[in-house]
Amino acid sequence: MKNALRLATAASFLAMVGMFAQPSGQASETSRDVNFSKDVAPIIYQKCAECHRPGEAAPMSLLSYKEARPWAKSIREKVARREMPHWDADPNHGQFANDPRLSQQEIETIVSWVDNGAKEGNPKDLPPAPEFTEGWMIGKPDLILSMPEEFTLEATGPDEYQYFEIKTNFTEDKYIQAVEARPGNRQIVHHIIAFIKPPVKVDPNRPKLSKEEITRLRAEAEKNSIQYNDGFLRRTKPDAPAYNDGCSIPPEEYKKRRFSGEGEGNDNNWLVGYAPGNIVQPWEPGIVKRIPAGSSIIFQMHYSKVAGSVQKDRSSVGLIFARGPVKKEVYMAGVSNPFLKLEPGLDNQQVSACWTTNRNIRIHSLTPHMHVRGKAQKIEAFYPDGKREILLNVPTYDFAWQTTYMLKEPKAMPKGTRFMVTTIFDNSARNKFNPAPDKTVRWGDPTYDEMMIGFIEYTVDDQGVKSVTASK
Ligand code: HEC
Repeated sequence: MKNALRLATAASFLAMVGMFAQPSGQASETSRDVNFSKDVAPIIYQKCAECHRPGEAAPMSLLSYKEARPWAKSIREKVARREMPHWDADPNHGQFANDPRLSQQEIETIVSWVDNGAKEGNPKDLPPAPEFTEGWMIGKPDLILSMPEEFTLEATGPDEYQYFEIKTNFTEDKYIQAVEARPGNRQIVHHIIAFIKPPVKVDPNRPKLSKEEITRLRAEAEKNSIQYNDGFLRRTKPDAPAYNDGCSIPPEEYKKRRFSGEGEGNDNNWLVGYAPGNIVQPWEPGIVKRIPAGSSIIFQMHYSKVAGSVQKDRSSVGLIFARGPVKKEVYMAGVSNPFLKLEPGLDNQQVSACWTTNRNIRIHSLTPHMHVRGKAQKIEAFYPDGKREILLNVPTYDFAWQTTYMLKEPKAMPKGTRFMVTTIFDNSARNKFNPAPDKTVRWGDPTYDEMMIGFIEYTVDDQGVKSVTASK
């Protein structure tokens, strides 16, 4: 269905290109002359090379004519169908700094290059080669923090979640301008989420509890929580109360979750995520992530097995420290609904979550996150004056591409704005990624459970401008 739609769009689009490309003699002359060095390389350098270079997510390098030529047909097909560069957001809502889509002109250039024999042209016409830091998208990190040692993943069994703690040994707060998580072994690293674990502050006034008391409190909390630990996986209990409309969950249910409140609006400990194809960029100068002195970094690693072969991984996080004055810290709100429940066999099941900001904020990026039954997500703002606006609409969510949509301009949101994240799930057998359409599905870490999060990255307007000049 999705492909059929895409094909239809591509077909009507190509018809349009045909219509507009014909009339002027100049245009047809250009198409006859289209060659790699002069016409195609500039597009590839700018729009493809970030991933299609050695060591990055894409399966092949396209940096030279020699490397690109064998892929010409496939390139034509992928760009004409707008499957490459990959982008799932509806262009009618929001403007994004990392929108990689090709212009119609660029698509036309590539298509006619291939249709006219994918010629090389004169290598002297090549634009200067793009400059990349090998191994990193953000540039050379000031500091690389790696898993303490190599992890060995067995050849068989289900996906694994593993947690690793890496000490930063920071003796003062650090301000981070850019951060990137890098998989050590792309074959098995499905995703990385890196969290900041600040040092525990012990309140000297807190009454001392006995061991028995602590055990009793823990057991009680576990009993009241809607979630449980299944080995190293955190999952919602099968018999936990279910609310797919996450915007009207009774407050007492939230308390039981042991989370802060509606939609879990304030997660300052998020550092960075990695999934294949995710492009990361630094924040604007002065907008930083703070890592408190004495923190550790926790890696949550999702490993997928390569059947029949034992694999090793040692993944890393690279940090670039802020150079200039620090103005604001970024925070991450994970607007989520862990009470979700998907009926077996059904398509188009709607699950929502809400979060109201109690401060004036500016949004910097939006990131939908679901698992393989996720089909679409929309993030809307309901302003205090009654206006309503779609901030991001992703009509065809694709689990394989965990895209962060970075706003072209940070967007001001007044105190009292309510964010609503609406997600559509397909738990039917028609969803080819669905591992078990006959199962009722609840929230959980593993990909065979679901998640429903709209990550909203923001800064707070009245956060005091720090008079700190960040240093290494
Ligand atoms: C954000 C990273 C990224 C960018 C940018 C990107 N690609 Fe890709 N590309 C990938 C990944 C990852 C794959 C493999 C997964 C897939 O096919 O979906 C891929 C696959 C492809 C394939 C199919 C290869 C095969 O095995 O059949 C072609 C062709 C391709 N890309 C061309 C392009 C072109 C041309 C551009 C620029 C106009 C581009 N890509 C931009 C990441 C990227």
